[in-house]
Amino acid sequence: MKKGLRSHRWFFGVNETGLLHQGALRSAGFNLDGYAGQPVIGIANTWGELNNCNMSLRSVAEEVKKGIRDGGGIPLEFPVITLGEELMKPTAGLYRNLLSMDVEENLRAYPIDGVVLLGNCDKTVPGLLMGALSANLPTIQLNAGPKKAGIYKGDKLGSGTDLWKYWEEWRMGDISSGEWEKIGKALSCGFGSCNTMGTASTMNGLLEALGIMPLGLSTLPVDSEKRFALSREAGKRIVEMVAEDLRPATILTAQVFKNAVAVCMALGGSTNAVIHLTAIAGRLNIQLYPDVFNEIGKRVPCIANVQPSGERLMDEFDLAGGIPAVMVQLGNLIDTGVKTYTGEILKTLLAKIKVTDATLIKTIAGPVMSAPTIAILSGNMAPKGAVIKIAAASKHLLQHSGAAFVFENYEEMLKLIDDESLAIDASTILVLRNAGPKAVPGMPEWGMIPIPKKLRKMGITDMVRISDARMSGTGFGTVILHVTPEAAMGGVFALVKTGDLITVDVINRKLSVEISNDELDERKALWKPPQVLHKRGYPRLFIREVLQADEGCDLEFLKPRSDDDLPFIEPVVGRS
Ligand code: FES
Repeated sequence: MKKGLRSHRWFFGVNETGLLHQGALRSAGFNLDGYAGQPVIGIANTWGELNNCNMSLRSVAEEVKKGIRDGGGIPLEFPVITLGEELMKPTAGLYRNLLSMDVEENLRAYPIDGVVLLGNCDKTVPGLLMGALSANLPTIQLNAGPKKAGIYKGDKLGSGTDLWKYWEEWRMGDISSGEWEKIGKALSCGFGSCNTMGTASTMNGLLEALGIMPLGLSTLPVDSEKRFALSREAGKRIVEMVAEDLRPATILTAQVFKNAVAVCMALGGSTNAVIHLTAIAGRLNIQLYPDVFNEIGKRVPCIANVQPSGERLMDEFDLAGGIPAVMVQLGNLIDTGVKTYTGEILKTLLAKIKVTDATLIKTIAGPVMSAPTIAILSGNMAPKGAVIKIAAASKHLLQHSGAAFVFENYEEMLKLIDDESLAIDASTILVLRNAGPKAVPGMPEWGMIPIPKKLRKMGITDMVRISDARMSGTGFGTVILHVTPEAAMGGVFALVKTGDLITVDVINRKLSVEISNDELDERKALWKPPQVLHKRGYPRLFIREVLQADEGCDLEFLKPRSDDDLPFIEPVVGRS
């Protein structure tokens, strides 16, 4: 076994600390007789009963351990904070960076030579990888898979997407309480991530494209035997990666991130992926936002016919070939010469992959929806950008001018949205502010503002909505998100008033508001920053350090500004 591993600094000492450290493992039940410097592999597990999406990760961890032992390594599983999208408030977005710190500091402080990351639900996926990238130890990431589809009135239910659809009907009184309860029960259909192309499916799929997750794994059902086999193989492979000293910074190059952006567009993926990919690449000092998204976005249409951009669910997408088949269809729109965690290049791994259902994974020439699927707009209202998922928007609203109706915050929006006396019509542009990274904090998924009842009754199902919030990856509508800088920073977005004329021109990537400079100066003089309620704890740290969406909402002190900031500082290994 390779000498000079970082774990040897803990275990090879013939002094009192070497004895103490070996004793710690023996006390935990490990037989170290015959220890000859085998690599120690950490398994960072986001399993937790607070997060139903990640509940099956314990069984995945057991398979990974078998693989690590087969490969000659010592597996050590450790818990890291779980981020359950549904239960965690105000939003799991607040805690993604905390998870990344949890991972990085565990890797720094403990005798770990390589790591297998286990995530599934939305923010667990980027949070784990961001931490491992900062540590830059050999890494493989695995997921638990999408949940089964619940059935309601004979139809499969798409997580999130169908909930939002039925919620609209329930708000309008078109669904009885009894039916509403039946829908709730049907949607509670077991462990696993959302079965639509929401944030979890998008991000897990992008890990395949980034070459850090086994190809074909992300879409496999939770209980698939193939998933367990791939997890065992990954356990074996991570031991080899340690021997080869194959680290993630070697795999995740700028070109690989471009591939991931292309796959995201082809999936009709979540707008949250723009933030997460920006943050992940940012940990390696690689810049994606906004140009890489807009440039690649122009060329890559949506070819995956999966909700919310398409019609089907993840189980059928998996059977059709999943992420590898999408990459095959992308042809020369991605670079298949890039290296993956296997040590092989992507082209070799894709050689035998085929699309098995052409109605589900379409072609570049005959896509589900033409390019671009996501675009980044800018203008005086969002000088540093705002994101729209064109694949989920209404075509007739992509070039639109209308009077603003401004909600100062989420509570005000909830209170007023169904007020029938609201001075709005179908051309009105709804604006929600003070929902950005610093404001709430954590930038919740409040951006899919409901269509006001008054307009729903008139048959209006979509209108332009703009906010500094995020939106669920399962959401839809002409919704402009992530306005940067957010209102809490005091830019033009903070100064827009009800009645101001806003122009959205998605075709030309523009988002502007007509306010004269004199008027802006007057409003600026009266503007006051929102009160910071959090005086202590992690939220206080987050508010102070969080970067805006154009930098992936990472924390300032976690994001390198030059290659000099990248090195991972090893701890002194002596008496604790
Ligand atoms: Fe966890 Fe959707 S809520 S994956």
